[in-house]
Amino acid sequence: MSELKKIKEKFLLKIQSKLNPSEINQIKTDLFGKEGLITSQFKKIGSIAESERKKFASDLNLIKDELSDLIDLKSKEVEIEQINIKLRKEKIDVTLPERNFLRGKIHPVSQTIDEISAIFSEIGFNVEEGPDVENEYNNFTALNTPDNHPARDMHDTFYLDVNKEKLLRTHTSPVQIRTMMNGKAPFKIIAPGRTYRSDSDQTHSPMFHQVEGLHIDKNINMGHLKGCLNYFIKEFFEVDKIKMRFRPSHFPFTEPSAEVDIGYEIKDGKIIIGEGDKWLEILGCGMVHPNVLKNVKVDPKKYQGYAFGIGIDRLAMLKYGINDLRSFFECDYRWLNHYGFDPIDVPTNYRGLSR
Ligand code: DAH
Repeated sequence: MSELKKIKEKFLLKIQSKLNPSEINQIKTDLFGKEGLITSQFKKIGSIAESERKKFASDLNLIKDELSDLIDLKSKEVEIEQINIKLRKEKIDVTLPERNFLRGKIHPVSQTIDEISAIFSEIGFNVEEGPDVENEYNNFTALNTPDNHPARDMHDTFYLDVNKEKLLRTHTSPVQIRTMMNGKAPFKIIAPGRTYRSDSDQTHSPMFHQVEGLHIDKNINMGHLKGCLNYFIKEFFEVDKIKMRFRPSHFPFTEPSAEVDIGYEIKDGKIIIGEGDKWLEILGCGMVHPNVLKNVKVDPKKYQGYAFGIGIDRLAMLKYGINDLRSFFECDYRWLNHYGFDPIDVPTNYRGLSR
């Protein structure tokens, strides 16, 4: 066998065997390096008899090409294999159990405010907000509350300065004033938020929540008020029928004024809304007093309307069966875990008008 053939046979076998990158480099040097076998064969060409030279040179070139092609191929193969090994070693195991994750709960009061806002939005009310720290004018004077009214007493109201100019709002009604002062009639808003009074027992907390309602337009009357509240109570408690009664009352900012009771009964220790012969007071309301409209530069001859104020905490207690008002604000994580709502799976208690 010619020397060329021997080289070829020997290296064909070598190249086919299992190799790592440095072994491949070694083969390259053995064949094509300065002293390499193929390189030496090229050096021999000059000394070969002229008659054989051409054939030798062409055979040599063929073998050189064939071997270097095979080596290139092998290099690529080994390279891919190395990458695969690396990938296998470094892969991320996505099947690992997730790390412990604490998901918070939505407070029943926040949930109730969301539900109330959704219900009133359906019938065209915008949601407004006002600050907890109010001035005496918005909280009392503009709302037609006389100077000697008991609500203005220090025992009832948290004043923030000796001049009694700044206070923690005692109701959400000042948002009526802010809205009407800053806008133009008609108005159709609700305003949920925190309110404060110097009061504390099982059914009263010094901080509590109200939602104010205000609808001012041309020719709005008490029938509209009744229809609106009737709709709201049915939607909120998810009942088809309710018993509701208007009791004459007095608020300085409405004339006439009323308090609204809803009928209920207790069955197997549970409160059933809309049936029975017991009455529960849930809100105050009335037709907005002309003096209030004048104070905010709305012409009472052109525009009239109704307003109402609902205690949110009481509604939340009724709907979700919570007995003690104070537990709402104790920040007990176990309580919240029990009564709170999952932020991702909030029940859509409000299903809209289609029902
Ligand atoms: N602001 C009253 C309160 O806190 C509730 C209320 C009564 C609000 C009648 C109103 C209303 O808007 O018209 O007791």
